[in-house]
Amino acid sequence: MLTIPKKLLLGSATAATQIEGGDLNSNWYHWSLAGKIANNESSIVAADHYNRYPEDIQIMSELNQEIYRMSIEWSRIEPVKGVWSQEGIDHYKDEMAMLLKNGIQPLVTLHHFSCPEWLQKEGAWVNSDTVERFLIFTGKVVLELGNMVSEYCTINEPNVFAMDTYMDAKYPPGHKDDIKSYFKASKNLIVAHLRAYKLIHNIRAEHKFSGITKVGIAHHLAHFEVDSKNPLTHLSKKLMDYSFHDLFTKGMIEGKLSMPLGVGYPEGKGRFCDFIGVNYYSRHIIRSTMNPSMLFGEVTVDESVPDSRKNDLGWEIYPKGLSIILKKLYKDYPLPIYITENGIPDVNDTKRAQFIYEHLKELVTLIEEGIDIRRYYHWSLLDNLEWNDGYGPRFGLVEVNYNTLKRTIRQSGKFYGELIKHRHISKEMKQTYNIKDVSYE
Ligand code: BGC
Repeated sequence: MLTIPKKLLLGSATAATQIEGGDLNSNWYHWSLAGKIANNESSIVAADHYNRYPEDIQIMSELNQEIYRMSIEWSRIEPVKGVWSQEGIDHYKDEMAMLLKNGIQPLVTLHHFSCPEWLQKEGAWVNSDTVERFLIFTGKVVLELGNMVSEYCTINEPNVFAMDTYMDAKYPPGHKDDIKSYFKASKNLIVAHLRAYKLIHNIRAEHKFSGITKVGIAHHLAHFEVDSKNPLTHLSKKLMDYSFHDLFTKGMIEGKLSMPLGVGYPEGKGRFCDFIGVNYYSRHIIRSTMNPSMLFGEVTVDESVPDSRKNDLGWEIYPKGLSIILKKLYKDYPLPIYITENGIPDVNDTKRAQFIYEHLKELVTLIEEGIDIRRYYHWSLLDNLEWNDGYGPRFGLVEVNYNTLKRTIRQSGKFYGELIKHRHISKEMKQTYNIKDVSYE
């Protein structure tokens, strides 16, 4: 049996480019046109959420979701530099109003891996002017959404974004092993967050918008281990932890730039997060390598992990890693924690309910130990465009048939919906959904 404490709110997360479709002005549409997405797929239809959001909110409601993390597509608000689209603004206002009417509290992400094509042409995040452009966009969104949204996540996973864009050539403009740009963009993303943090607070206070303003990040934290006693592997892990985790954690929470990003506190010393959002997926084994594309270490999966403990993309299912990283994080920064993403590509839906159960169990134990975890956003509500991997990986609690765009709630979705309703997993539920208590190391 598992009981979910009242303070832990449950819901799901999505990102605009991955589900909305229909946007001709984003850099991902142009990336699709250049044939950079698996099987030549395109962001142009996705799950057609842009048109079907009333139906999707209805589904969220059926699944008893209390909270919802979504992103605003910058290119829908500012399709042309300096020109606002009233249609885009009204669209999101309507979506927010509908969420609130259904008792679902939104958490809005302002940058989730995509930007307008005009900004891409100006160099996007390697251009330091982008910080200012991002602040202008942020200010506009916060003003327009006003009383409807009090919680913002500035930037999603700057570490994954910089890595996939400038090291692994997966995201536009697709640079390979461009360490210089990796660090340059990382710095700009961190500074953008710090300044947006202040800006959002200032605007909401000045306009006396209702609700307690909460601004944070969604930081991707993976659990790293080494595969041998070789000192080189340990060094690789240290470098990986530093360049992929710590630079961003310190930067975005404390406001501190560390080498090679810079030194000191560009926006002063302080706390730049009202909550820390954590996106957690897996454990990775680090091997040492001289290949710069691995940024100091090769990220692999433990070969002894059985298929039953891997997802469709081969990532290990390792809930214990979530506890390990959260304990450390909370010790360093005792701030409220939101799990802003946690999920599994599982086309046959045989592992997702069990995955949710195991990760929630870890969270409940941590809450009992005094760690302040307040939100769990399952990734994802719907099947979606898994960036350069296209539509193959299926992360949804709800299946999307890409031919008809019909939605079907998966068994795991029903399980999650019942769990939210009862805030409890009974013996009967465990039997119905085939949930087991397994031990894993
Ligand atoms: C991203 C999502 C992505 C998910 C699964 C996270 O890195 O924020 O956009 O779909 O992981 O890969």
